[in-house]
Amino acid sequence: MTMAALKAQNVAQLSYQGKTIDLPVCFGTDGPGVLDLQGLYSATGLFTFDPGYTSTASCRSEITYIDGAKGILLYRGYPIQQLAEKSDFMEVAYLLLYGDLPTSVQKDEFIQTINNHTLVHEQVSSFFRGFRRDAHPMAIMVGVVGALSSFYHDSLDIQDPAQRHIAALRLIAKMPTLAGMAYKYSIGQPFVYPQSHLSYSENFLNMMFSTPTTPYVINPLWAKAIDRILILHADHEQNASTSTIRLAGSSGANPFACIAAGIAALWGPAHGGANEAVLGMLEEIGHVDRIPEFIGRAKDKNDPFRLMGFGHRVYKSYDPRASVLRETCYEILGEAGVKDNQMLQLAMELERIAMADEYFIEKKLYPNVDFYSGIIFKAMGIPVTMFTVLFAIARTVGWISQWKEMIADPMQKIGRPRQLYVGKAYRDFIPMEKRLEESQ
Ligand code: CMC
Repeated sequence: MTMAALKAQNVAQLSYQGKTIDLPVCFGTDGPGVLDLQGLYSATGLFTFDPGYTSTASCRSEITYIDGAKGILLYRGYPIQQLAEKSDFMEVAYLLLYGDLPTSVQKDEFIQTINNHTLVHEQVSSFFRGFRRDAHPMAIMVGVVGALSSFYHDSLDIQDPAQRHIAALRLIAKMPTLAGMAYKYSIGQPFVYPQSHLSYSENFLNMMFSTPTTPYVINPLWAKAIDRILILHADHEQNASTSTIRLAGSSGANPFACIAAGIAALWGPAHGGANEAVLGMLEEIGHVDRIPEFIGRAKDKNDPFRLMGFGHRVYKSYDPRASVLRETCYEILGEAGVKDNQMLQLAMELERIAMADEYFIEKKLYPNVDFYSGIIFKAMGIPVTMFTVLFAIARTVGWISQWKEMIADPMQKIGRPRQLYVGKAYRDFIPMEKRLEESQ
């Protein structure tokens, strides 16, 4: 189904150098309207300037809606809290990909199809062996996910909806397998194959922690927590990695290459790398007694230090995902015995102090989803370098849904932002013998 054309419901006027132009104002289902600036440059010779895109809607989308002020996150209209409580990751994946919740038959078929695609081509294993053992798993993921385009030639034609769909299913199915392989490779253990009788999150845990020598018993509380984290991270509108995927995909690049680009963007500490940065920060703080010192540093304008896992570009009220995950975090910590774990105690004390501090209250800097996911992963014994990989597994569903939506949108064109040039004005080439004198 294609999206309806944009319809102007109002008009804004821009006056510049004695000329007034009409700019159509269009509204979606909810949220702020947009000024349609597509005709701005031809009418005025002006570009817009919006670094970080804080006021720019880069596309139209039917997938995810966020109201940052009210702390609302909807996937295809459904609030994240209801999905986290009543649904599971496979259902949410179906919802994001197809637009509606599945019937029970559709859900079974979807799970079956995903299970059919969990294995990776056996030669992918040799590909892994080219990496150093101490390579960061996100570096490996960028490489191997991109490399999938060299293994699955029958799903690279982006003009064919059936091939696009197969590529989407393959990516969703294979991400946990590749993640498990990246971890096993780093610790020198044999790869563990996916098992179709296990759920998506159970499979991930099994591929991470089981070994050929000892049967691995999956803790149902952990599997539920992983499933919940996957739901909460599955999509988040036009964030940095999703926008990267849309931009890469707008040139016609294949979906495996686009998702690899998204993984690279996600890796940064201001985005998906924040949950890893949270643990780094806790290690740096080291002891509860040092919390005031670090809170002081976070408030100091001359110190670049920030409390990792606090604040959000969009949520200026509480992050709805963080409130769901806070509950799960306390469940897991209860089981893991937080009293025995100095780092987890430190995290809980930091949360308490920061949430009562004027600076953080005034600036609306609440703990975000990465704060709690980092702590949950730590309590489960998932190594810190795998934290962002888990985020990538979850977000693949959102990324590929957004990519598919973009390719099918008749308004889609290659992304090509402009710039405000502030470099040197035109100047003639300086011959080598004259350069020294010129620059002195
Ligand atoms: N610690 C201390 N001060 C902070 C923090 C923080 N974590 N976050 C923002 N501030 C201050 C900042 O110094 C600024 O102060 P002032 O107004 O005096 O200049 C004010 O709050 C607004 O900050 P900003 O950088 O303009 O806010 P932003 O919306 O551009 O940044 C952010 C959002 C997430 C990049 C930022 O809050 C941050 O760096 N947080 C820590 C990293 C983190 O946890 N990132 C994960 C984000 S959630 C995951 C995701 O969805 O990808």
